[in-house]
Parts: sequence; structure tokens; C-alpha cells
Amino acid sequence: MPDRIPLVAGNWKMNGLRADGIALARDIAARAAAPHRCDLLVCPPATLLAAVGAALAGSGVALGGQDCHAAPSGAFTGSTSAEMLKDAGCSHVIVGHSERRHGLGESDSDVRAKASAAWRAGLIAIVCVGEMQAEREAGRAVAVVSSQLAGSVPEGATADRLVVAYEPVWAIGTGLTPTTADIVEMHAAIRGRIPAGARILYGGSVNPRNAAEILALPEVGGALVGGASLKAEDFWAIAAACG
Ligand code: PGA
Repeated sequence: MPDRIPLVAGNWKMNGLRADGIALARDIAARAAAPHRCDLLVCPPATLLAAVGAALAGSGVALGGQDCHAAPSGAFTGSTSAEMLKDAGCSHVIVGHSERRHGLGESDSDVRAKASAAWRAGLIAIVCVGEMQAEREAGRAVAVVSSQLAGSVPEGATADRLVVAYEPVWAIGTGLTPTTADIVEMHAAIRGRIPAGARILYGGSVNPRNAAEILALPEVGGALVGGASLKAEDFWAIAAACG
């Protein structure tokens, strides 16, 4: 399989009202008309999927959800199914983000069910994994992430429908990042546990200043960007750092 170009994905989290979300999406769409060496994905909050999808139409920038329910429909107040995301124009969905694993108590088996739901609906699942600070300090980072992968990635994974995002919990939104050696070690460990050719993104405090160095590392197939994806200029600078 030929090497994939990197994927730079913006996770807007619970940020954005209609006016600023549409303006941000339009700005990204306009910048994406220039040549670039990565695939681009924007994951806005569910309330903005339709408006952001419309603003991105024709730009080549893909649309994704930030989470999905495992069931296709039913009595699950407040939840959004993978089928609904697909229907809203999404091609991807993030599952198992640490803010859901650690903030909302999602287990590996919850994440696995959501990834299966994504595939059932025809979406690409971006499965997030990552260790806590104490786990890294105890020398257990690779073991923790390996165990998360074993529990969270369903049978039948292929490079076309699985993306793994390595996001150390302590690096998310903190301005801290692992050493490049630690990123390389972890991505190599992940590579041995997922189908050949599947992208492995790094996430956690990626910004325009560190993006080029991180994106150039072996086995780093792109970035999952939180805070810096809320400014078109910064998001684009990260995209432009793909070599
Ligand atoms: P951050 O978030 O870039 O703000 O650290 C990354 C993420 O949570 O996906």
C-alpha cells in the first residue's frame, strides 16, 4: 500500500456558536484552496455539523463527529448515533477521547462498541489512546496504550477505516509534549498492533511551533489538534508543517 499523506484533524471540543463556527470553517476552507500536503478534517460540536459541513462543501476538508453512541437509534436521550453523523455529512468520528475515557468513565469496551458502530455506519473511526502522567512515570506508558488498543479496536480493523490517535492524557491542553524519542517509541509500539498502513496521529498540545518536528517523526501519520484548531491561522500553519 502506498504511504498515506498525513491527516491533520481539528477537534473543536465543546467550542463554537454558529457565527464563529461558520467563520472558522469558511476561513479553513479558503486556506485549503492552496496546495497542501495533508488531508484535513474538522470535528465541530454536533450542533454545528450541518452549518460547518455547508461551509466546507467543495473544499476537500472532511467533516467528523467527536463521539457517537454504539446503537444506531433508540431511547438514548442526548446521544448521537454514528448513522446520524454519517447522515450529517461526516466521514470520520473520534471515539475514546481521554476527556470521555477519564472525564466520563468510558471503558475500552465502550470505545470498542463505538468504533464498531462507526464502521457499521460507514465512518472511519479515530480511536484515541494515551497514558496518564503517573503511568508514564512508572514506565508503564507502552503497556497501558497496548492494553487500550487491545480492548478498544474491534476485530476486522483495516487501514481504510481505522485511525489511531496517540494522545498522552497529561499532554492534552497543557502545553506539555512527550520527547520526540517517546513519541517515536510509542508510535512504533502502536504500529505493531494495528493493520499495516493505518494512520497513527499524535495529539496533545500540537501547535504551529512544534508541528514540523512532530510530523516529521517516523510513524507519525498526522496530528489531532485541539486548542490550536480553533484559530484558522494556527490550524493551517500545522497543516503547512506537513513535509
Ligand atoms: P490540545 O487537545 O491540542 O488542546 O492539547 C488535543 C486533543 O484533545 O485532541
